[in-house]
Amino acid sequence: MIAETTSQKAQAYYEQAEALYVSLYGPNFHHGYWPSPDDGTTYEQALENLTDQIINRVGAGARDRVLDVGCGIGGPAIRLARTTGAQVVGISNVATQIEQATASASAENMAEQVSFEQADALGLPFPDESFDAAIAIESLIHMDRDPALREVARVLRPGGVFTAADFCLNAPVTPARQQVLDRYRDLDTLSSFHLFDDFPPMLRRAGLEPLELLDASSHVEKSVKMWWERTEADLENLTNQYGEQELSDFIGLFDDVITHGGPEYLFFTARKPTSPRPPQNRP
Ligand SMILES: C[S@@+](CC[C@H](N)C(=O)[O-])C[C@H]1O[C@@H](n2cnc3c(N)ncnc32)[C@H](O)[C@@H]1O
Repeated sequence: MIAETTSQKAQAYYEQAEALYVSLYGPNFHHGYWPSPDDGTTYEQALENLTDQIINRVGAGARDRVLDVGCGIGGPAIRLARTTGAQVVGISNVATQIEQATASASAENMAEQVSFEQADALGLPFPDESFDAAIAIESLIHMDRDPALREVARVLRPGGVFTAADFCLNAPVTPARQQVLDRYRDLDTLSSFHLFDDFPPMLRRAGLEPLELLDASSHVEKSVKMWWERTEADLENLTNQYGEQELSDFIGLFDDVITHGGPEYLFFTARKPTSPRPPQNRP
């Protein structure tokens, strides 16, 4: 029997969970970002805020061609194109996401600036140095980071910038939290969790120079409570679609994350150096 790749596992997961994702997140399949935990930011605004955190860091402009790695149903790519004027190409390994993202770009009159295609991030169907910038919002969470980052570095032009939102570990892992992490990884088909401090060497191994790493956990942690509330509000519909057991697995995970903590959350920005240097030999 041939083992399922991480991409195939994530693909099957997203095909199955799409309605839940749309119910929890709308067009932005990611956490929300609150400037401070108790400000009046609504959940919808917090979801857009998180995309804006990425857009502001990647710094793309109207002449740039930007890749969105693991684009979901296209909310962030369309917002990036609209707010910066850049040409954006989004890729996801899930066909229905690409259909939905393409339909949204047309409906929002953005089809000339944004396109979407089905592809595996671990084997991007683009030539070397064909993008000025790249983003990845919570998609690396499903991938082996080393090969995924190497692919991003390959398609970036020298000097090109990459910004991502990713999970990490940056606080002590108690046995209770370890159980939550294991459950989270299994339920959401996540790849391994890496220490915050592992990211700079990981980026350098891929041939990228780290510019900024920020632990944004305190800004996003309210998201889990929002998922819980949204699931409760749409319980009957979601139970009909998923069955009681599947849905209670998700709600149980949300409860556990609220009680014991889940992974930490980081933004990182890195640049492909303009003159190549040996990537491996620096700490
Ligand atoms: C949590 S969602 C984030 C979607 C989008 N970035 C957003 O913020 O709305 C993760 C995305 O990564 C995609 N993904 C996971 N593994 C992938 C792979 N190997 N190749 C391409 N896309 C992948 C999923 O299909 C999904 O679109």
